[in-house]
Amino acid sequence: MSEAIEVYEVEGRTFAPSAAFVAQANTADRSFYEEADADYEAFWARQARELLTWDKDFTQTLDWQLPFAKWFNDGQLNVTANCLDRHVAAGKGDKIAYMWEGEPGDSKTMTYAELLTEVSKFANVLKGLGLQKGDIVAIYMPMILELPIAMLACARIGVAHSVIFGGFSADAIIDRCDDAEAKLVITADGGYRKGSAAALKPTVDEALKRGAPSVQNVIVANRCDLNPDMQAGRDHWWHELMAEASADCPAEPMDAEQLLYLLYTSGTTSKPKGIMHTSGGYLTQTAFTHKYVFDIKPDTDIYWCAADIGWVTGHSYIVYAPLANCVTSVMYEGTPDTPHKARLWEIVEKYKVTQLYTAPTAIRMFMKWGTQEPQKHDLSSLRVLGTVGEPINPEAWMWYHEHIGGTERPIVDTWWQTETGGHMITPLPGVTTTKPGSACHAIPGVFAELVDDEGKPVEAGGGYLTITRPWPSMLRGIWGDEQRYKDTYWSRFEGRYFAGDGAKLDEDGYLWLLGRVDDVMNISGHRISTTEVESALVDHPAVAEAAVVGATDELTGQAIIGYVILRGTHEASKELGDEIREHVGVKLGKIARPKAVIIVPDLPKTRSGKIMRRLLRDVADGRELGDTTTLADPSVVAEIAAGAASGDED
Ligand code: WTA
Repeated sequence: MSEAIEVYEVEGRTFAPSAAFVAQANTADRSFYEEADADYEAFWARQARELLTWDKDFTQTLDWQLPFAKWFNDGQLNVTANCLDRHVAAGKGDKIAYMWEGEPGDSKTMTYAELLTEVSKFANVLKGLGLQKGDIVAIYMPMILELPIAMLACARIGVAHSVIFGGFSADAIIDRCDDAEAKLVITADGGYRKGSAAALKPTVDEALKRGAPSVQNVIVANRCDLNPDMQAGRDHWWHELMAEASADCPAEPMDAEQLLYLLYTSGTTSKPKGIMHTSGGYLTQTAFTHKYVFDIKPDTDIYWCAADIGWVTGHSYIVYAPLANCVTSVMYEGTPDTPHKARLWEIVEKYKVTQLYTAPTAIRMFMKWGTQEPQKHDLSSLRVLGTVGEPINPEAWMWYHEHIGGTERPIVDTWWQTETGGHMITPLPGVTTTKPGSACHAIPGVFAELVDDEGKPVEAGGGYLTITRPWPSMLRGIWGDEQRYKDTYWSRFEGRYFAGDGAKLDEDGYLWLLGRVDDVMNISGHRISTTEVESALVDHPAVAEAAVVGATDELTGQAIIGYVILRGTHEASKELGDEIREHVGVKLGKIARPKAVIIVPDLPKTRSGKIMRRLLRDVADGRELGDTTTLADPSVVAEIAAGAASGDED
């Protein structure tokens, strides 16, 4: 088994769903599993027809030319008609789609009918700027209602969106716009974060000054009155374009395989991959999992996914699935500690939230803040608690269970990826007896298997996580790079999708996700590639060579530690270390800024010249050093360890 996989102790506690929960659950027995095991294509076809409204029914469920899948290929639907028009037509126009809460405490609600009007108008704005089906638009926005409106307006007319997380840098905007030849950027003057207005538009300006020549126009929503520079002819105010726009924009039927969006994610090389998601299969699996994993009751629930739409969790579980299922969602702009550490619990109480979906890193932070914070508020409205993004430690699971869930609410630990589009491995709250720290089992219609180094299935113990059959919301490829799609996901184990994660199967058949086995780090649930950070480090003029590892971090899961060798005459100093660290923040965005940059005389390498990251991880974690016998110069590690111990970080 790979060295990166550490198997922790088997957790003995189990939690069966309560009789009261089972009695009201959307699904409470094994019938979905049985149906899907018998014929998974028929199972998904039934879900597609039950959960969605098709303009033209499909005759073929799956066309599988390994590794290329087409689901419901000759069917036609419009994603936004499924998210909006059909609900309005069914008399649900006055139902609230979003209860939006700004960080400073301002709030707004938007009904399904209002959202449909805004989306139709903005779709006409896009058309007015010359955008057509098949074009790609970049979106770089804070968590304001204009963000889902912009995404849905694109979807309405067959324009694919590429949302760029608001914490990313100008370079990230350039790379993503160039790769997709984006014609338009939709942004805002800024958004509120940690108590103040953080500007976004200047980052777009900088990107467009230096690159991204495909971008012809910029639309700017005004959130913070920051009064940004507006370049005549290129930059347009959202509210001015919308004032002129007609609300008449009928939803056109689209092919099921129409590209819905690109979302860039870090891989093991320095270039992020544009993950492609299409329409019919994506909406089927996200709507299915949303309904059954969160046990959604659209008429009474107030659902809250506390993620950022800049990541896949927000795409699938703030925008597309909740709207397809006609639920009322809470959407929050800011950070959980602003203006105080009970902000999330205040929001749960204020809106009477029934489902809360968050990340283990957030739960660990809440644990640190203490139980007095949630105790200040009434959390009794909660019915189901979800987590996503990284393995949840049993301690954090138990804390969530006891202090947020009052020991009664089911917890759904959902394993999935940008590439999978929707949940893949998770309990079903009315069916599964959970174990703290385990994501339990693959959902009905998804087939997960652990394999060893040779690709042989593992009956019990550690292995690599693979998926053995196609699933409706799977990525359709990497934008512009078919070969990379095959190489990354389908070549390590023949005929299997390789997720890049290690996992363990216990004797009861429960899956325990153990983290990445490749050079991808997981920082607070966000994927960051070691190579990408290394490239940004060596981009600094003082750096000759760099190696990056994810060290264990109590709060963020992993923390980025950069080891650098200086060029020629540069002298090591704390100031230079800080400057190099900042440089990465500017190049890639704050989330990729290393927690520490350690200046070292040399890096441990194998005789073939490969950097031995495992050793650096051991040093960063303060662990006993593993085997160093394949090192070209074993004394290097001792030197680095001595440097790390003497506190060469900040
Ligand atoms: C990790 C986020 C353990 C995993 C939806 C995966 C998890 C990567 C879990 C995908 C979980 C996500 N338990 N690990 N419940 N959920 N991961 O693309 O390593 O941002 O490969 O998608 O996060 O991250 P991504």
